[in-house]
Amino acid sequence: MSFENPFTPSFGEIPVHVAGREQVIAPIVRAFESTRRRPELTTLISGARGTGKTTLLTLLARKAESLGWIPVSATALPGMLEDLEIGTRRAARHLLPEEPSSHVTGVSVAPLGGISLERSDRELTNWRYRMADILDVLASAETGLLITIDEIDPTLDEMIQLAAVYRHFVREGRKVALLMAGLPHNVSSLMSNKTVSFLRRAQSVRLGPVGPYDVRNALLSTVLEGGREIDQDALDLAAQETGGFPFLIQLVGYRAWDIRPDEPTISLSDVEHGVELALAEMEERIFEATFRDLSEGDLRFLSAMLEDEGDSKMEDLVRRMDRSSSQVAQYRRRLIEAGVIGARRRGVVGFDLPHFREFLEARI
Ligand SMILES: Nc1ncnc2c1ncn2[C@@H]1O[C@H](COP(=O)(O)OP(=O)(O)OP(=O)(O)O)[C@@H](O)[C@H]1O
Ligand SMILES: [Mg+2]
Repeated sequence: MSFENPFTPSFGEIPVHVAGREQVIAPIVRAFESTRRRPELTTLISGARGTGKTTLLTLLARKAESLGWIPVSATALPGMLEDLEIGTRRAARHLLPEEPSSHVTGVSVAPLGGISLERSDRELTNWRYRMADILDVLASAETGLLITIDEIDPTLDEMIQLAAVYRHFVREGRKVALLMAGLPHNVSSLMSNKTVSFLRRAQSVRLGPVGPYDVRNALLSTVLEGGREIDQDALDLAAQETGGFPFLIQLVGYRAWDIRPDEPTISLSDVEHGVELALAEMEERIFEATFRDLSEGDLRFLSAMLEDEGDSKMEDLVRRMDRSSSQVAQYRRRLIEAGVIGARRRGVVGFDLPHFREFLEARI
């Protein structure tokens, strides 16, 4: 008998057990439940690739829905606003009156004799007021609208328009929520846009590594859920090798499971093999892209870090790099934003992206 693999190493797929993130999820859910407006209803989530941003948005949309909200989601791409409007109409179909039907406004004498259909009411309104009309209907059913935007793109005009309209809705006292997620540099550059300066007052959360205790729990619960068991030393190794990186939790679990899927228990050697496969994939899907995004200065900074066995002192890095300390501090900030390194004690940094050090050592 073969056991069905319960791990979810695909992007955006909600895992069977979400490791950690409780301190992000709980306050937002409380805000969905509350009868009064809470600031968590406007939240910006940032995190490096594979830290679970899309997963969180999906999960929170489901929670909202179960609490009676209408969720609508879009990716920050051209056409996003129309997407949101259509999505809202569909999701709220049961509450909305029949859409005004299209009617013939003119018969053209074009060569093919086409009939042009036009919705005359469209001309008198715009996105903001069409959405406001929908919100009026939702309000009469005491329903709120949750908008989630993934892959924030600060250069997209529609992002700015959405934020501005949303702000009007909040001011008008409407029941609306906006959760947005993106890579850290995109989130911070959106927040520094003057037209949407109110976003700076929104709640902002940064997804870092998940703690070791939560990783262990999630791995174990997922294995048990799938109907198998895992040896203690195997679980320890698996948890450790993930470094708390959400994508690796799924990938290591998935590969280790598939080594001998007919056996009732996952062994240490299954995990050892699984980790090897997982890291090869991690390299392809995360490290290569991360590496491509590094500037020359970033690389110089990381090379200087490789000289240390463990964490690095900033003062040592400044000396090794032969750059001003303010320049070095800038590289530090960029690399923290990219999720590659993290701050430790004061003046000390270390690698946050698990196994990236080994990858770099091979590369440089
Ligand atoms: N808290 C978590 N616990 C366990 N696994 C998780 C968790 N969050 C996400 N995952 C898993 O990690 C992988 C990556 O998640 P997700 O696609 O949400 O990341 P992302 O931050 O949106 O990445 P990207 O920036 O590339 O879009 C998925 O396989 C998902 O199942
Ligand atoms: Mg994503």
